[in-house]
Amino acid sequence: MVSALLPFEGPADLSRIEAPVTLKAYLICAFAACGGLFFGYDTGWINGVLGMPYFITLYTGYSYDYDKKQPIGVDPTNFGLPSSTKSLMTSILSCGTFFGALIAGDIADFIGRRLTIIIGCLIFCVGCVLQIASTNQTVLFVFGRLIAGLGVGFISTVIILYMSEIAPRKVRGALVSAYQFCITVGILLANCVVYATQDRNDTGSYRIPIGVQFLWALILGTGLFILPESPRYHVMKGQLHSAAKSLAYVRGQPIESEYIKDELAEIVANHEYEMQVVPQTSYIGSWVACFHGSLRKGNSNIRRIILGCGLQMWQQLTGINFIFYFGTTFFQQLGTISNPFFISLITTLVNVLSTPISFVAIEYLGRRFLLIWGAIGMIIMQFIVAIIGTTAGRVEADDPAAVRAMIAFICLNIFFFATTWGPTGWVVIGECFPLPIRSRGVGISTACNWFWNCIIAVVAPYMVGNSKGSANLGPKVFFIWGSLCIFSMLFAYFLVPEMKGLTLEQIDKMMEEVSPRKSRKWMPKTTFVAELARRDAEKSRQQWRDVNAATNTAGLEGGMGGGYQEANELGDIDSYGTHTVVHGGGGGYGNQQSMGRDPYESPNTVRY
Ligand code: BGC
Repeated sequence: MVSALLPFEGPADLSRIEAPVTLKAYLICAFAACGGLFFGYDTGWINGVLGMPYFITLYTGYSYDYDKKQPIGVDPTNFGLPSSTKSLMTSILSCGTFFGALIAGDIADFIGRRLTIIIGCLIFCVGCVLQIASTNQTVLFVFGRLIAGLGVGFISTVIILYMSEIAPRKVRGALVSAYQFCITVGILLANCVVYATQDRNDTGSYRIPIGVQFLWALILGTGLFILPESPRYHVMKGQLHSAAKSLAYVRGQPIESEYIKDELAEIVANHEYEMQVVPQTSYIGSWVACFHGSLRKGNSNIRRIILGCGLQMWQQLTGINFIFYFGTTFFQQLGTISNPFFISLITTLVNVLSTPISFVAIEYLGRRFLLIWGAIGMIIMQFIVAIIGTTAGRVEADDPAAVRAMIAFICLNIFFFATTWGPTGWVVIGECFPLPIRSRGVGISTACNWFWNCIIAVVAPYMVGNSKGSANLGPKVFFIWGSLCIFSMLFAYFLVPEMKGLTLEQIDKMMEEVSPRKSRKWMPKTTFVAELARRDAEKSRQQWRDVNAATNTAGLEGGMGGGYQEANELGDIDSYGTHTVVHGGGGGYGNQQSMGRDPYESPNTVRY
């Protein structure tokens, strides 16, 4: 048990469970958000590259006239990669990220969050090298994307974990939203780079967009060499001194500060509490434990997994990636638009510019509010797009004003996503798991995001395509996304608790005590340190009573003296409780009682 390694004091006072934070400490936490750049950029560049003349000629053997900007000897409608190749090259990334996200959690628990992210950066670079080296070899290109995906999976899971664990509670939502902001910036940058290189008549056309990614790996990888490991990881490993050092660094406080001691004590106490609740078993058993518990209990592991995976699934099913992945094709189909690429650029820009609103909204309005009202906003916007698209905006109606109106409502839909479901999905999965299953829970939820991401990437072209076997839904597809948003809204209403302003440890308690619908009003009443002290005191007292009973019996049998002696030693504690609880000045529980101070009645500080 970790507490036995380093006794320290812990707070019973709720206001002291988190140390005050300096500006430098905020910046340190915010830096990790750069991980979002990988995610956004890597999903953003592939579509543009797949449509580049040079890339197409490389893989199909067709010729292209760069001056006249048209293919030679082949109809422009047939000048492109086969659908199967496109689908494979696009979706293989999600396949890699899916597995990367699943294993990253385990690795992060084994070697630490920080090192796992650095390894993720290295794997990602290997994937990029393979893609750059792959000149017209589909297998190598696809393999490179799979490996790069693995790296992105590592990074996208562990960054959320790391940020949630080091961020101060009052701005945790805002800081994790910064990760989403970096995703949106990544998508925008990818669009810009691809736009700039698309007409090149050499390998630079696709190698430059791929090569730019080394920059993100360099920034994040080197930055993390300087950043500390998550203190919660150290606590998990029983390395309390390192935990104290990291915590002091990320809070910008001296290690000997009382605040640091108090916050650390609370993290340790929570971990111990969770370890008592979650049975410790084999490796397989620990995976099974993630799905353990009753569906009716808000804090059971299975409920938290449903919460994390459900959020990520419904985030994808809002249909946002339909716009980002297939926006260009969709706008082309609408007719009357001269530059579909430009419109795509505008939609990504709306995404970037709207996201910072969530930094403030997530802390003031809360996670639940954003998810419920964000979904309502998207339902309305998507139905409007679908209605216009099937009436005045029909291709046959040839009405540019109606098409412009559709684009405006699509942008408003992006606004609602970017300020609500985009960031909040990530914020909540970083917050909702208890420490013993946190890394796996975040990994499974992130894998779920990529799984649905992949499904949408594969299915969406068939929904709107007009080739044989496709549904040719056109703008009607927004009726489907709008209807799915109704489920997203219901999911948020019934299953997502409000976590704003609470520490990760308090969130545990809140999920145990109230249903999501009542969670907004929940207030912490005690700290884990006080709670564990209370439990230990109760246990010791029971043992004291048992011993007394036993010694009384023994006394009756063999005289009082021996029994008293034994009980007195036991009063000096420790060997009984799970925790080393040293109350009020080292006298032990027995001393406390004799001083008339019962630790579970009104403790200010509990030595733990
Ligand atoms: C989603 C991505 C999406 C992006 C758009 C993220 O939160 O998980 O799939 O492409 O937001 O900004």
